[in-house]
Amino acid sequence: MADRLPLMAGNWKMNTDLRRSIVLASELATLTKGADKEKVEIAVFPPYTFLRDVGKQLQGSIISIGGQSCGTEAKGAFTAAVAAPMLKSIGCKYVLVGHSERRAIFGESDEDVNKSLLQTFENNMVPVLCVGETLEEYELGLCNAVCTIQLARGLKGLTPSQLAKVVIAYEPVWAIGTGKVATPEVAQSVHKDIRAYLSKAFGADVANAVRILYGGSVTADSVNELMAQSDIDGTLVGGASLTAESFSKIAMFNN
Ligand code: PGA
Repeated sequence: MADRLPLMAGNWKMNTDLRRSIVLASELATLTKGADKEKVEIAVFPPYTFLRDVGKQLQGSIISIGGQSCGTEAKGAFTAAVAAPMLKSIGCKYVLVGHSERRAIFGESDEDVNKSLLQTFENNMVPVLCVGETLEEYELGLCNAVCTIQLARGLKGLTPSQLAKVVIAYEPVWAIGTGKVATPEVAQSVHKDIRAYLSKAFGADVANAVRILYGGSVTADSVNELMAQSDIDGTLVGGASLTAESFSKIAMFNN
């Protein structure tokens, strides 16, 4: 891997409650005490309602917090939406944008994803842009085409310096929550193609700087092999991020 700092991210999705989220955060803070911030970055994405409490619990630890999504506008009449400035005001460093569940279940379009991504930057946070193909698209050999379209549309309008800060998460939809992790070879080959696309579209410097995470059924057993691939710069973990024991092992891979 070039000198890209690995980012190990845990997406709690619609899980935990207040008590559980505080316990999980506090256990994680303890179990990651030995992590070296020169070597790894760790972030968790709890439900909005627990972000502030989780953030407080993680103060002084290596772990940052992020929002699971954000609105397309800064404020206004958008009942139930959460805006990027709100997330910034409670200490978020990252925001997931375009997670496949947001796209498939909540109907977020590439244009919405792009707007949320721009909102994230405007509020000095780092977007983690999720891309990935469905099983049907994978079987039809459309993986690269789908990722390229989602990247091109999602990254529209960014300046070169913003582009270099974006984090991309490649998450094949067929691997999310299914227990079917992509093999390290398959994941590496898609990551390489994504970097090649970034290089062609935005230049080699941007492409070399951007961190590309793999997501989809990552566990403590699969993380080391994935992280050994030259274009895999971290992981985005769902199910296995819900217990401190498994997520801390993933976050401190190779230890
Ligand atoms: P999973 O979820 O690890 O449970 O497959 C990954 C994700 O959706 O980010």
